[in-house]
Amino acid sequence: MKRILVTGGMGYIGSHTVVDLIENNYEVIIVDNLSNSSKEVLNRINKITNHTPKFYEVDLCNYNDLENIFKEEKIDAVIHFAGLKAVGESVAKPLMYYQNNLISTLNLIDLMEKYDVNNLVFSSSATVYGDPVSVPIYENFDLHVTNPYGRTKLMIEDILRDYTNVHPKFNAALLRYFNPIGAHKSGLMGEDPNGIPNNLMPYITQVAIGKREFLGVFGNDYNTVDGTGVRDYIHVCDLAHGHVLVLDKLFTNSGLVTYNLGTGNGYSVLQVHAAMERACGFKIPYKILPRRDGDIATCYANCDKAEKEIGFKAQYTLDDMCRDSWNWQKNNPNGYKG
Ligand code: NAD
Ligand code: UFG
Repeated sequence: MKRILVTGGMGYIGSHTVVDLIENNYEVIIVDNLSNSSKEVLNRINKITNHTPKFYEVDLCNYNDLENIFKEEKIDAVIHFAGLKAVGESVAKPLMYYQNNLISTLNLIDLMEKYDVNNLVFSSSATVYGDPVSVPIYENFDLHVTNPYGRTKLMIEDILRDYTNVHPKFNAALLRYFNPIGAHKSGLMGEDPNGIPNNLMPYITQVAIGKREFLGVFGNDYNTVDGTGVRDYIHVCDLAHGHVLVLDKLFTNSGLVTYNLGTGNGYSVLQVHAAMERACGFKIPYKILPRRDGDIATCYANCDKAEKEIGFKAQYTLDDMCRDSWNWQKNNPNGYKG
């Protein structure tokens, strides 16, 4: 049985991936400092899979603590989700983002080399494409970043490109996620943001549950179907499965590979809002507000490369995503806090 170290495995995408890995007979070891997640996730993973993975509460920025895990565990591959991810916060606190996201990753690669662990999956983001010249976005498009969070993603991609160039044994997959939403179908796991959500889906579900008064729609004067921003929303379980699929590719000594993980479809804010009203069965108030700084009009992926090379194809529709996000929110009005 192959053993996978999942950094950030208690977080939103990590936890869904852990479930899929366990269901596909991988042995999972989680390392997370719980800076943006809850220990309750372990109980939920157990309820879904009947198995509790080994968990280390460790900060990846602490080299010695991380090394103890490598001393203790035989590891075949690492899936590296751990990182800070809020764009606005990264503008306000750039050093915190550079320190956390870069030092953690450098420690990890250094220890992988020291302990001869040669397979790494890295959580990159569509943010590395900036404002693309056209859509859909292909993996070979130019890369531009506009904020410290995005820069950490691009810097880590560059580090891995440089590193794999001179380490032929080392395999790395750069997975560029589009917009993950949705939740596990059981209603036991989902996205649990701290404070006021920055992202569209958790904001809408919090309006639907009555925690917030209305959804602010950031701009209706973009050159899109209805003037509101268009994104490629992907069900978190589809995204999670992409990680399981890419492991097989890495185990063939693939070197460095890069894949977009999205659905290939773009939906506007108002289309998502309408789908959420269908899922809930009632009206969700919204107001048009000015554009949000830094937002682009349209972003969606071409995912042919991932389909051809690793057999990745998103299965869930926008209505499925809204149904599962709503099911999670309704069953867990305060997230994992009970
Ligand atoms: P998340 O915040 O839910 O999960 C990240 C986890 O990493 C959290 O559990 C947090 O406690 C942990 N963590 C952070 N810094 C750590 C450190 N130094 N040591 C140990 N653990 C640490 O985020 P997510 O939405 O699951 O995202 C996972 C990854 O995917 C991130 O790297 C994120 O940048 C990337 N990503 C996310 C999105 C998105 O929209 N959610 C889009 C593109 C890329
Ligand atoms: N939006 C609103 N109101 C809100 C929140 C969002 O109208 O309250 C709109 C945005 O203007 C945008 C769309 O909904 O048009 C999606 O916004 P999100 O904040 O959900 O997602 P983004 O596309 O802005 O960014 C997300 C992550 C980034 C990541 C990017 C690409 O937050 O970290 O997807 O993967 F880089």
